[in-house]
Amino acid sequence: MAEESKDDFTVLYEITQKINSILDEQDLLEKVLEIAMAHLDAERGYVLTSDESSPGGFAVVVFKNFNARKDATEYAASSSVIKKVLDSGEPVLAFDALSDERFEASRSILAQRILSVICVPMRLQEKITGAIYLDSTRSRGKFNTETMKFLSVFGSLAAVALENAKEYGHLRNENTRLKNEISSVRLFPGIIGRSKAWKMALDLVQRVIDTDVSVLITGESGTGKELIARAIHGQGRRKDRAFMAINCSAIPEQLLESELFGYKRGAFTGANVDKKGLIEYAEGGTLFLDEVGDLPVSLQAKLLRVLQEREIRRLGDGESKKVDMRVISATNKDLREEIKNGRFREDLYFRLNIVEIHLPPLRDRVEDITVLIDYFMKKACEVHGRQAKKISADAMSRLLKHPWYGNVRELQNSVERAVVLSRGEELTEADLKLQEYSEEELLQSGLTLEAFERKLVEKTLAETGSNRTRTAEKLGVSLRWLQYRLKEWGSQKDQQDG
Ligand SMILES: Nc1ncnc2c1ncn2[C@@H]1O[C@H](COP(=O)(O)OP(=O)(O)OP(=O)(O)O)[C@@H](O)[C@H]1O
Ligand SMILES: [Mg+2]
Repeated sequence: MAEESKDDFTVLYEITQKINSILDEQDLLEKVLEIAMAHLDAERGYVLTSDESSPGGFAVVVFKNFNARKDATEYAASSSVIKKVLDSGEPVLAFDALSDERFEASRSILAQRILSVICVPMRLQEKITGAIYLDSTRSRGKFNTETMKFLSVFGSLAAVALENAKEYGHLRNENTRLKNEISSVRLFPGIIGRSKAWKMALDLVQRVIDTDVSVLITGESGTGKELIARAIHGQGRRKDRAFMAINCSAIPEQLLESELFGYKRGAFTGANVDKKGLIEYAEGGTLFLDEVGDLPVSLQAKLLRVLQEREIRRLGDGESKKVDMRVISATNKDLREEIKNGRFREDLYFRLNIVEIHLPPLRDRVEDITVLIDYFMKKACEVHGRQAKKISADAMSRLLKHPWYGNVRELQNSVERAVVLSRGEELTEADLKLQEYSEEELLQSGLTLEAFERKLVEKTLAETGSNRTRTAEKLGVSLRWLQYRLKEWGSQKDQQDG
């Protein structure tokens, strides 16, 4: 007897060492069940722990040799035993469940011909945090008072280990959350946002930073595509080399090829000297192809070759030159749609889009609006030498309701303009000038067609936060037409857009 309890003591000591080193809740409970079953030579068993979302306040977490599909009815077989243990906090032992009068009510035990049953609570001080249930159909009197004592102590030890594992899991989650928060704040100063959608995008950004994979950044205009592209470059291992941004829609089509690829002297009339192409300037660094969806199809093939062969050939040059660069591209077009319509090469799309980072529109991340307003307000006050301002409640509720078709750019412009225009300490709704242009204003008589055209363009530019690509799309005109007209009108708006 003394020998036996010493044995049990040693066993318990070893078990404690073992289970205390398991920090994952599920792993721990599996081990607990495994040890209990092995030590008591039980056939079946399960562990249940407190679970607020379950009707009885407890749920089965691990089980062995129960038929998983029939589990509900099988567990129900032991529910009277379990209930007793959880209610009383006392262990239950039945040497012979068939003839034990305590189980008269429990027809399921009879039906399943369970001969020996043992169930002990997992107790943490006065609180019952779970229970371990074991049974056997093999022989009567399989479990005895010694095994019950052993299992009771074991149950309490398991409860402590479980509590530790839970606490550890909680701390680990908290730690990961804080780490994420710190690193995105530290990694991306000046990139503001706290919505879940924005954080998910930043998480993706973080994961591609230390790689060389081609990234395609998509999103409506003004959502921060260029900002993100610069951040990827600025935090990556190529940060000390060039960030070469090429706006594929800003260079006139007939010049684009020679601008991008460069030329050799004598390649065409007027090519008096060798000229380095813009792509070559990205050597060692990052090539940022902005508005890549606007690249003419003829040049898409040439670009694809550069990306595949990692070499570039100037116009009129017989030889090519190796290039080493990371490629980031951006577009506010739906490239899959462009592919369908034959305006974008699918093979180029797959080259550019190893990882897509989609930036959701501002109206889908309302939580970001307030923090962005705060940020842009402080910035504008600093830049324009104004005293710090507050924002009136009316103005704020108007800002939160605005659809922000021009996204962050439109918000930034509105806030900055309001800061400059406002006289008081508070930005008011009037300062924000968010009202839509009215139809009547546009359709007033006495306008020449050209004046009407200009008014309509300006209205649309205002709506898109001065974004030319979107404006052209909305008006159903080509970007080149729009650029031409803007130049002609000498519009200031032309300068604003990146
Ligand atoms: N999350 C943000 N935090 C701070 N500033 C932002 C954020 N997102 C965008 N901005 C600012 O908004 C403006 C527009 O961003 P950006 O030029 O990167 O947009 P875009 O997606 O490239 O637009 P477009 O498609 O029109 O070229 C920039 O001044 C940028 O700094
Ligand atoms: Mg851009």
